[in-house]
Amino acid sequence: MLNIQRFRCEGRERGCVTDERRPVFSFALESDRTDVALRSAAITVDGVSFDASHQVAAPYGGKPLAPFRVYKAELTAVDTYGDTAKAKLSFETGRMGTPWAGKWITDGAYVFREARVSPKPMQFRKRFERKKPVASARIYATAMGIYELFLNGAKVGDRYFAPGFTSYSQNLQYQTYDITDCLTDRNEINVVVAGGWAVGSFVFTRKNRVCADRQALLMEVRVRYEDGTEDVFGTDATWDVTEDGAFRMADLYDGETYDATVDPESIPWRKAVEETPRSHPEPFAEIGAPVKRHERFWPVSHTHVGNAEIYDFGQNMAGVVQMKLNGKQGQVVTVRHAEILNPDGSLNVTFLRTAKATATYTCVDGTQTYSPSLTYMGFRYVSVEGIDPKDLSIRAVAVYSDLESIGSFSCSDPMLNRLQSNIVWGAKSNLVDIPTDCPQRDERMGWTGDIAVFAPTACFNFDMGRFLNKWLTDVRAEQRRGGGIPNTVPVNGYGFPATMPEMAIDWWGDACVLVPWAEYRATGDPSVLERNYPMMKRYVKACKFWANLLSVGKRRYLWHTPATLHFGDWVAPDAPKMSEWQRRSKWTATASLFHTSRLLSEIAELLGQKEDAATYLALSEKVADAYESILTDGNGKLKEEFQTAYVLPLHLGMLRTENVPKAAKNLDALVQKANYGIGTGFPGTPYILFALADNGYVDTAYRMLMNTNCPSWLYEVKCGATTIWERWDGLDENGVCPIGNDGTDIMISYNHYASGAVGDFLYRRVAGLEATEPGYRRFRVRPTLGGNLTAAKASILTPFGKAVSEWEIENGVFRLQVTVPVGCTADVTLPDGKTQTVGSGTYRFKTGC
Ligand code: BGC
Repeated sequence: MLNIQRFRCEGRERGCVTDERRPVFSFALESDRTDVALRSAAITVDGVSFDASHQVAAPYGGKPLAPFRVYKAELTAVDTYGDTAKAKLSFETGRMGTPWAGKWITDGAYVFREARVSPKPMQFRKRFERKKPVASARIYATAMGIYELFLNGAKVGDRYFAPGFTSYSQNLQYQTYDITDCLTDRNEINVVVAGGWAVGSFVFTRKNRVCADRQALLMEVRVRYEDGTEDVFGTDATWDVTEDGAFRMADLYDGETYDATVDPESIPWRKAVEETPRSHPEPFAEIGAPVKRHERFWPVSHTHVGNAEIYDFGQNMAGVVQMKLNGKQGQVVTVRHAEILNPDGSLNVTFLRTAKATATYTCVDGTQTYSPSLTYMGFRYVSVEGIDPKDLSIRAVAVYSDLESIGSFSCSDPMLNRLQSNIVWGAKSNLVDIPTDCPQRDERMGWTGDIAVFAPTACFNFDMGRFLNKWLTDVRAEQRRGGGIPNTVPVNGYGFPATMPEMAIDWWGDACVLVPWAEYRATGDPSVLERNYPMMKRYVKACKFWANLLSVGKRRYLWHTPATLHFGDWVAPDAPKMSEWQRRSKWTATASLFHTSRLLSEIAELLGQKEDAATYLALSEKVADAYESILTDGNGKLKEEFQTAYVLPLHLGMLRTENVPKAAKNLDALVQKANYGIGTGFPGTPYILFALADNGYVDTAYRMLMNTNCPSWLYEVKCGATTIWERWDGLDENGVCPIGNDGTDIMISYNHYASGAVGDFLYRRVAGLEATEPGYRRFRVRPTLGGNLTAAKASILTPFGKAVSEWEIENGVFRLQVTVPVGCTADVTLPDGKTQTVGSGTYRFKTGC
């Protein structure tokens, strides 16, 4: 029997509201038969059918879509056995460019001049009546700042930090809320708008008012009555506004202050005024993955230290607390957040730098609940002051983008399983509307280098489609005139290197190629490449320009602009000094130019751009030759040796075939000399185990993976880490941070996903599940055994259905179970080297080992 496992419109099974004129549909299949493929598929919308056999992204092919409508889509899929399956979904069109009935409004009395803090939240109010029985009602809303929407006292929807973080001068999302069932005869809309990213204090310089001088709100309410008439109204000067509401302060770094004693009926309200924001791009229906609340954690322990109660939630995360309090009118409760404790048990807030990460709540009499909603913190521990523990019940709630978890990895080693969990939690904590570097200190910015290296691992664990596509929309918008990509996207006031705005930076800028590529490999949808191809071309042109500058001969392909303009081998533990990480940019930047030009050649080929493909291939060859002729002795040995400088050319395929074994041997020797400790920075860390294992040094790769001495992944696990750290030596074995101010501006975070990029190795080598055609249309199952592991399993919900590799070794017998989705093919290689090719279904294999 054929079954449709999931059916989506624009990447969503439910709740899709789109402004796309040709939204795309996708579906995955399952069947209890083997060797099944899709024969045909069609989708019917509004009585018109169109072909959907391009299962991964079938474009809408019906009548032109109209705005503000709910559509029903029915999918019929037929497989090669003639079995048929059907599925339905409904999606909704948004405004599709319809002019807003509302105007941008703000508080005209509000003049905000303070530096380095966020403005006070504004609160807007509008009352209206329901005149007749309602058929359907919607609110469309966006803001400069971040907003929370309430209707008749209750929060509408489950989204946080709307309208989301985008490059506001060019891209702005709006949200759609179905309020049909929330309307009563008399209604009151309340909207709190905090500074958020657009107006609030953000980036570590704590700049504020980067995109707007003060908060502003744009809304439209559309009520359709059962008799066919409509009421449409929007924000205008009849709305009330105040800054004396219960939200006293909200800032992404500093936290939130909420006064529950504020009585909305006795505070001064005035009329809002129309605003013309500095930039006001045409808002489009949300395209990203909205931030929501997820897992909840009870404290695993609590202790009394000084005046505070310290709670440990047992998991580092991005989130907020959720409290139930038994309080007295005017009683002030203060909650501070941190990732680690001091030796005396108090909170260590040093590494938060200027971020105050504090929630302050003023109680009313009786039992009440409070949870911040206009901020988030990165924390595992909190200190609570101002309330007796017996009057408080406290939990932590993880807050991150709504990403479907599609992958899992586990094995016989509990420490590796903890590492996988840490990788996943590092991702959850840093996928908060944009890909961030960390969730706790005064950064949380869209550092491009971090996601450039982590994207493949993210794509194994989560469905990243909407999240990455939204972010890439901003990367395109922010690309500099000269082709360079800013180091953080959205830039939002941060502009390093300020002196050379057109500068291209290796690995960080590479995100514009590596991120779409990772998404394409995971989904097989070429549209992500098509959309971003012009950006990639301009970027690689810029990189080539900077490499060529002021050089002659082969040196023109060695990229060595001044090291201070690069990040190089960022945070490499074998060179614990920022200037040294940067000095290595000659190696990392040259390898980056090889990598991006080689990928671009492949992408050009895929997109049918033959000439481009040849040009980029030729460029990559020249770069590889320059690396090998100038930086090595031409015989597989680097003139200056360090791990990353071997890892990149080995893994990326830059060396002449005869030199590969020699370079691999040299890398192996370096790793042994380091006692199997990791020495790579951001660019090398994702690839080092591949560079070893794929070139004959499986044992060394496993010794490095299983190493529990610092620096190593499992050292962090041994020290009790629950996420991935920025620095390998973040804590000593007693749980104390041994690093003082070492000249890196206290750059010590316990929640940076970048070195969690090793997750790629867990899926592709330890479990052995690796796509050989994009989207897993064809994949390989070929576990790499080692590390005394006796079992491993990876499961991925691919665009076509579930793919699984599960192996175990017992009494010298190797057993493997493989699941292949409908329409896919797997090449299964057992440890004896024999390969078998199978179609869809579940298969068991066995051999001695
Ligand atoms: C961030 C990194 C980022 C780096 C750029 C740091 O402060 O936390 O993750 O990529 O700066 O070098």
